[in-house]
Amino acid sequence: MIYALKGDIAYSKNLNELSTYKNHYLICDGKKSLGVFKSIPKKFKVSKIYNFSDKLIIPGLVDMHLHAPQYSFIGMRMDLELIDWLNTNTFPEEAKYKNKKYAESAYKIFASDLKKSATTRFVCFATLHYDATSILFDLLEKTGLKGYVGKVNMDRNSTKELSETKEDSIKNTLKLIKKVSKNKNVKYIITPRFIPSCSNELLKELGKISKEYSLPIQSHLSENRSEVLWVKDLLPESKSYADAYHMFELFGEHTNTVMAHCVWCNEIDMKLMENNKIWVAHSPSSNRNLSSGNAPIREYLDRNINVGLATDVAGGSYLSMFRTIEDTITTSKLKWLEKDIEKEKNTSTKELKSLKFNEAFYLATRGGGKFFDDGDTKVGSLAEGFDFDCLVLDDKNFDTTLYKELTIEERLERFMYRPNEKLVAKFVAGKKII
Ligand code: GUN
Ligand code: FE
Repeated sequence: MIYALKGDIAYSKNLNELSTYKNHYLICDGKKSLGVFKSIPKKFKVSKIYNFSDKLIIPGLVDMHLHAPQYSFIGMRMDLELIDWLNTNTFPEEAKYKNKKYAESAYKIFASDLKKSATTRFVCFATLHYDATSILFDLLEKTGLKGYVGKVNMDRNSTKELSETKEDSIKNTLKLIKKVSKNKNVKYIITPRFIPSCSNELLKELGKISKEYSLPIQSHLSENRSEVLWVKDLLPESKSYADAYHMFELFGEHTNTVMAHCVWCNEIDMKLMENNKIWVAHSPSSNRNLSSGNAPIREYLDRNINVGLATDVAGGSYLSMFRTIEDTITTSKLKWLEKDIEKEKNTSTKELKSLKFNEAFYLATRGGGKFFDDGDTKVGSLAEGFDFDCLVLDDKNFDTTLYKELTIEERLERFMYRPNEKLVAKFVAGKKII
């Protein structure tokens, strides 16, 4: 079926430039965009027109990293750094998902709120439990959103209540891969929690499984300084934190790999990230809440490393990708300031320009969207040939008398900075889900 959306359309042409179209038609054929037109070309047999005149139409937003089981304590218990936060707050909560009833109730709320949010695609951690993760897959599959979920693998350095043997970890991973192999929307991603949580034997097996089943990989990298030192202690033979993954073929050698945070990466890490085409999932809210630091996103972009944006719920204290865009920009200014202060002290000569709105918008759409490219599938834009993922936004609640004078770019920028988000409609791969 071919249908059209009429409104004020914007998408990223590239990292720096936005394409905008006032009062145009965005046309969808099946699951793909046919592009943007001033009027509907006769050759298209359009069977329905959605009139979103005066509303903004933009690509869907991609959340590159979040933890579904942590949604239950979002916005609470933020006064610790990573390792203490995991042991005190996170592991006890994730242990509750052993109980299928609890998992089902909690994951229903998560799936329902994610569906209502501006996120169209996601990359998500579950817990280590087979049953709970299976429930999460089923609930998310039904939302119509698209994404990846992985059962967490963790066979060391956890609490008694939240632990698994290497054998169970592998067995349940394989069982879930099989169970979800026919899913249309939500696919499996290999999910070693992070190096401190996984024995060498488990890491080795996960590298092999990813290769054998051609599955992508997600994990955490260099989030916190004590964590980086701990990894060096655990794997003294590794040349860096990234190398610890690389030793087990878990660092983009044969598949798409996304690493959350990447706050404290050194030169060896960055070279490996460049060479293995790693995605950085930049999580500004979480990096601030857990006092982790501020990731050098400008440097990653200058090095042509893939960057997407992420909420990292519940290290991140909101589910909103609009706020993630705002925080990406504002924290990049602090990063620039930090480097400038260092420069005056003569410890660094590098300048890290802060990010502009257009750049952050690109990262939230095409930056993460590229992770989902596959064969003839392309994600993160509204140009012809891309999967039809889009959002319709109502920004009329701002000063309506002046509103008509603003450019689409100005309206969009302001929408991201203002808390009163109003999402009118949401389409994922051509399907209207709100
Ligand atoms: N590193 C390992 N596990 C986690 C987690 O659950 N959240 C965050 N932010 N970092 C981690
Ligand atoms: Fe995380």
